[in-house]
Amino acid sequence: MKVSEIIEKLNTTHTAARGELIFLLENITDDEREMLRKAAQRTAREVFGKKIYIRGLIEISSVCKNDCLYCGLRRSNQNAVRYRLSAEQILSSCDLGYLLGFRTFVLQGGEDGFFTDGVMCGIVREIKRRYPDCAITLSLGERGEESFKKLREAGADRYLLRHETADPAHYAKLHPANLTAQERQRQLFALKEIGFQTGAGFMVGSPYQTVENLADDLLFIERLRPQMCGIGPFIPHKDTEFRDKPQGSLELTLTLLSVLRLMNPHILLPATTALGTIHPKGREMGILHGANVVMPNLSPKEHRKDYSLYDNKICTGDEAAECIRCLAARMRSIGYEIVTDRGDYK
Ligand code: SAM
Ligand code: SF4
Ligand code: FES
Repeated sequence: MKVSEIIEKLNTTHTAARGELIFLLENITDDEREMLRKAAQRTAREVFGKKIYIRGLIEISSVCKNDCLYCGLRRSNQNAVRYRLSAEQILSSCDLGYLLGFRTFVLQGGEDGFFTDGVMCGIVREIKRRYPDCAITLSLGERGEESFKKLREAGADRYLLRHETADPAHYAKLHPANLTAQERQRQLFALKEIGFQTGAGFMVGSPYQTVENLADDLLFIERLRPQMCGIGPFIPHKDTEFRDKPQGSLELTLTLLSVLRLMNPHILLPATTALGTIHPKGREMGILHGANVVMPNLSPKEHRKDYSLYDNKICTGDEAAECIRCLAARMRSIGYEIVTDRGDYK
């Protein structure tokens, strides 16, 4: 089979066999990449038009009990500056975000024991009381089914938990032994079952990743059928043992965004901050390759630089209002408009 035939198959049937995905990723030429990009952009345009959904990202804590090898917030990083936002700081970020036009707030952080179910449910309820027309997305790691149920009952709508890599052996090379791919995937299926709009995802070019791993990631998304999928390039952090590993490639990340769009026409697909970090126009390129979401930073400016997952992260010195203005201009420059909308999965 030729790559062009696999692209056509993805475009018409929204699926491909593992061998076909591997063949495409290994052999795609520049011309075929452009063919794939156009098909993915067309698909996104059919579903979302020229609308780009925005999510206000509030980084609530840089404290984490985990030790994921790739992440600058890992607990063994002694150089990390740890902070946690108070409930008041989180709520005032939402107040500002609402005025700026956000209708989704993403509360993300390390696995920080301070944010117990009681504390988190209180914050979720208060945001919903103030802004019943807004969606709340949580991204707080593996809290387990009981916690997920309480958070859902308190009013949280969505949960982001990247599967990171679908292959258990690869997962074990990126995480300490207490974290497993099986448990991660079990929690993802539980989130869906509990009724969250669920987001999975993976890093592109993480250390030891193979093309086979990426094909399995795409097929895992096909099996889980999440409403969202976050992908971005792996970027090394200087205070982790992956400091000298190469960063993920722009081209491969864009190719995967397009394949994901064709396999999942309705999926909510962000052009991530990591993509914007490895190329000044990375997020614009992401949209032109089939993404439909951007996540401007709404965190209080004084803590931005301390939520340091990887080196050279963008938007660390900018106010929330500047960030959204900047992204709106970037989207306009490529013929898209950000919208004041919850942007639910349809
Ligand atoms: N602690 C929660 C979790 O792990 O799900 C939420 C925050 S965590 C920092 C969010 C995502 O950042 C992870 O799922 C991971 O894919 C990504 N990430 C961490 N370190 C990264 C790196 N060095 N390069 C690119 N992405 C990274
Ligand atoms: Fe903690 Fe998430 Fe970073 Fe892992 S990726 S160390 S869970 S913040
Ligand atoms: Fe944050 Fe440009 S998007 S400053």
